[in-house]
Amino acid sequence: MTDTTDCLAADRLRMTPGPTEIPAPVRERMAEPAPNPDLEPEFFSCYRNLTDKLTRIHAAGPAGEAPATPDRDTVVLGGEGILGLEAAIASLVSPGDRVLCLSNGLYGDGFADFVEQYGGEPVRCEISWDETLDPNAVEAAIESADESFDVATVVHCETPTGTLNDLEPILDVLESHTIISVVDAVSSLGGAPVPTDRIDVCLGASQKCFSAPPGLATCTISDRAWDRIERVETASLYTDLEPWRTAADEGEEWFPYTHLAANVLGLDAAADLLLEEGLESVFDRHEAAATLCRDRAAELGLDPYPASHEACSPTVTALEFSGSATDLQERLRTEHDVVVATGLGELEDDIIRIGHMGHNARTERVERTMVALETALK
Ligand SMILES: Cc1ncc(COP(=O)(O)O)c(C=O)c1O
Repeated sequence: MTDTTDCLAADRLRMTPGPTEIPAPVRERMAEPAPNPDLEPEFFSCYRNLTDKLTRIHAAGPAGEAPATPDRDTVVLGGEGILGLEAAIASLVSPGDRVLCLSNGLYGDGFADFVEQYGGEPVRCEISWDETLDPNAVEAAIESADESFDVATVVHCETPTGTLNDLEPILDVLESHTIISVVDAVSSLGGAPVPTDRIDVCLGASQKCFSAPPGLATCTISDRAWDRIERVETASLYTDLEPWRTAADEGEEWFPYTHLAANVLGLDAAADLLLEEGLESVFDRHEAAATLCRDRAAELGLDPYPASHEACSPTVTALEFSGSATDLQERLRTEHDVVVATGLGELEDDIIRIGHMGHNARTERVERTMVALETALK
């Protein structure tokens, strides 16, 4: 049997780009008795409170301010982040539809795979993984295509490589062609401003910057996306977003399947923490943690994987490593009680990733990580 004593040690620091450390108020709320999600109206109130709070968090602009009446619905699915991505494609794409898939990384490519899986035809507009998306290239891809597009996909923060795309100019292009935008903001929502008020389907997950456990996917959906979702025949119940439009409406209190009550309570507590702190302060905290991480890495001679400083995400730092990143990761965990991530796929052994998102976006945590990294490198 595996001995879990070490990994339960209170002072182990988990600086991974999700799941993140879960603060005590979230854990305590999850341990409370929860209403039956199918039978007790109190659960529907919990769910509605949560979606209201998420709508406010999702709508927060760069200064943390939220519009008074954001005209988007937020739904929370029982399932981790990837369910939100798959559900968006399953619900918006019919067989034969051509979808513009913008990609500078693993999750951007993954959207194209989902499109294929649901019978659509992905038209890829790709750029190297250390760069960010170029709006001129997006415009050129749309102009040179034989037919127009109804739907486009884009990833805000490519967690595996630590890049953050500038969404505003990309959304300018998509809006000018009235293309429905599907944005994976899984590792940026709640850690960096996301222009959710301009996005048709904006996707998040509980275990990243919200610092709740994995298990819930959040989707903020515009009216025109709902209209399309209602027209598309989805071949699966689990990935169909349509039933969630009426679920938990006043007088329509039901969910397509049993909701994850404890997770909903935990995410609600996490949302309270973000709103109490204020989104402006939360975003500043992420920027400060990211800046410290990169400055300390530079002192250690480690370069960020993204090609420019502007391309780096405030929620995760990916550093190039000329030795074995997996060996370094192992030493940090076993000798220093600090857990970090490596690259994914072909980059597994070439990149070390430090998550400074959610509860972990604190300079003292980054400092302890970098001290451990410095010692491990010696
Ligand atoms: C950008 C991005 N999208 C989607 C996902 C998938 O989320 P999950 O692991 O919760 O399924 C992740 C997970 O790391 C991610 O980083």
